[in-house]
Amino acid sequence: MSTKIAPSILSADFGILKEEIEDVIKGGADYIHIDVMDGHFVPNITIGPLVLSAVRPVTDATLDVHLMIENPDRYIHDFAEAGADILTVHVEACTHLHRNLHMIKDAGVKPGVVINPATPVEMIKPIIKDVDLVLFMTVNPGFGGQVFIPEVLDKVKQAVKWREELGLSFEIEVDGGVNVDTAKQCAEAGVDVLVAGSAIFNEKDRASAIQKIRN
Ligand code: DX5
Ligand code: ZN
Repeated sequence: MSTKIAPSILSADFGILKEEIEDVIKGGADYIHIDVMDGHFVPNITIGPLVLSAVRPVTDATLDVHLMIENPDRYIHDFAEAGADILTVHVEACTHLHRNLHMIKDAGVKPGVVINPATPVEMIKPIIKDVDLVLFMTVNPGFGGQVFIPEVLDKVKQAVKWREELGLSFEIEVDGGVNVDTAKQCAEAGVDVLVAGSAIFNEKDRASAIQKIRN
């Protein structure tokens, strides 16, 4: 199966967000990636459940909601209600990661775990059978348009190995600095879903940008 593309709306024009989302869906996007930042876990502040609930009626596509917030357990219910299909929480932000993943599942949403570039991949091993998605940050989270960190791909390869050995079926996603050049290395390492913000929304022709990344 070909690699899925998840445009990150962080680089979209928020004044015309509905049109921006419709444009990338028409252009072949598989998921819509939504970056939630609280100004504490990461320096930037972005969007909350209210905006997510406004995005929900725009598309039937999978809404992949990336929580870059402290104490994510406090907001799981709100983001589930607002229409998330996948909710990912950072291993670095969860004191009780296993509990939080099961809270997401109990809320009827697919649970995913996210891991920063400097965090060892072993941190996710104990909960790897509890997730539908593992998201590897290929930049330090907080902003769009940063440079891809290739060393993260070694962690991707380890996750591919564990998935095989344990007979699991979670998807592997990368986020940050994905463009036509870096997408190739990601696909070779075994990535299933590529998040791309600036490489899609900074291009006028989104369909062609998505197509180029996918190929
Ligand atoms: C970064 C976010 C990313 C961001 C990626 O913290 O999690 O989703 O939008 O942007 P690009 O693709 O421009 O690196
Ligand atoms: Zn993200």
